[in-house]
Order: sequence, then structure tokens, then C-alpha cells
Amino acid sequence: MAVTIKSAREIELMRKAGKILAVVHEEMEKALRPGMSTMDINRIGEEVIRSYGCIPSFLDYQGYPASICVSVNDEVVHGIPDKHHIIKEGDIVSLDAGVIYHGYQSDAARTLAVGEISREARQLIEVTRQCFFEGIRYAKAGNHLHQISAAIHEYAERYHYGVVRELVGHGIGTNLHEGPQIPNFRQKTKGIRLVPGMTLAIEPMINMGGCEVRWLDDEWTVVTQDGSLSAHYENTILITDGEPEILSIRN
Ligand code: MF3
Ligand code: CO
Repeated sequence: MAVTIKSAREIELMRKAGKILAVVHEEMEKALRPGMSTMDINRIGEEVIRSYGCIPSFLDYQGYPASICVSVNDEVVHGIPDKHHIIKEGDIVSLDAGVIYHGYQSDAARTLAVGEISREARQLIEVTRQCFFEGIRYAKAGNHLHQISAAIHEYAERYHYGVVRELVGHGIGTNLHEGPQIPNFRQKTKGIRLVPGMTLAIEPMINMGGCEVRWLDDEWTVVTQDGSLSAHYENTILITDGEPEILSIRN
């Protein structure tokens, strides 16, 4: 799919979508507690999305049956909410959400701790988040896309974590997935040159063990092959003339 450059008006709509999505994540984080189901989280997220007059972009996307992806522990991404899947103390829960505001999309993910978690799990979450921030340092006009990929990969490697290959970040705009694809691992090519007005979803998916993943029989849920924990961190960002702007956070 094509790489699109957004106009000032489109950027304003993507900013609004991003701010709303930041609130959606805050509300899900506040609500998250042991004893609730992954479906409860989906309901809360969808309610907040709709309360702002937005559409949950994941619902029915290529047949995805819910509004939020809720991926617990060794689930990497695309966990399908289930009223029988109860979240418990010590779990790590990746929440991925997308909204459409006046036709413009924002996409963001966070991995959260449920109560007390192990030091190792805490480190995985923090390093995955930092992978995003290492990558975005290179998200500047004139740089090449794969500088972002290499920076994410290098940071994860320092911790001997596995970087998921099968799923990548992406351009975003009126479509959830636009060009370019944004791998989280080193590439042989430089990739496209970054230009102001590009909006990108950068989303490292990092495993505590090996990088290999497999799909469950539900055809959505991606889990680590070795059963190790996995974390995800994603924001929608804007390439500018200067520093990149993170659209899917508040301030
Ligand atoms: N944030 C994910 C992505 O960028 C989730 C979308 S998959 C969906 O691909 F099917 F749930 F929408
Ligand atoms: Co995404």
C-alpha cells in the first residue's frame, strides 16, 4: 500500500485521533485489575472509543472479532478478548487499540503489569518501551526508514531478547495499514527517505526468549514459540521538519 503525505488539515485530525487514543489507553490502564476478563477490558476500551464519537478500527478489520487486542504473557499480539480468560496478579497484558476520528486513524499499544510482576518481566516491558524511543530518535526528515529498524534491533539485542520478525510497524492515515512497512530488525537496504507529513506506527514486539512465534488455531493470536513472555509498545508518530511528534500520547 502507498506511502501518503498528510496535509495540515489531515495532520490536525490525526492529532485529535491520537489524543483520544491516549485517553482510551489511560482508561484501560486504570481499569485493569486481577479477576477481570480480557473481554471486560475490550468492553471498557470500546466504550471509551465510542464516547468520543470514534470508531474502533480493529473491529471487523479482516474479520477481527473485537475492538481491542488483549495479549497476555506469552501472547505477542492479536489476543482475542474472551470472557473466560481471567487476568491474574503477576500477568503482563499487552493492550493494542486503534481509533478512527473523522476518517483518520491512530494506533497504539502498551504492555502493562497486573499487580506485582517479576523483575525480569518488568525489565522486558521497560526495554520494549525504550526500543520505541531508540527507534524514534531516527524518525527525522532526511533520514532513512531502516535506521529506525536498526536502532530498535540493537537496543533489544543488548538484553539478548528476541525481536519478532513476522509482524512489523506501518504507515497509517485513512487506512490502518499504509506503506511503508517498518521492521523492528536490521535490514540490508536503507529503506525510504523520511519526509515531513508522513505518519508512522512504530511498534516493537519483543520476546524474553527466542524471536520465533506461532499462530494459535483461532488464526489471530500470535504466541512465542518457546512460551517466553512478550511485550509490545506502539505509538503513531508524525515526521516533521524537526523532532518527530508522538501523536498517540497526551502532552
Ligand atoms: N496494532 C495492530 C496492527 O498494527 C493491530 C491490528 S490487527 C487487528 O496491526 F486486526 F486487530 F485490527
Ligand atoms: Co499497528
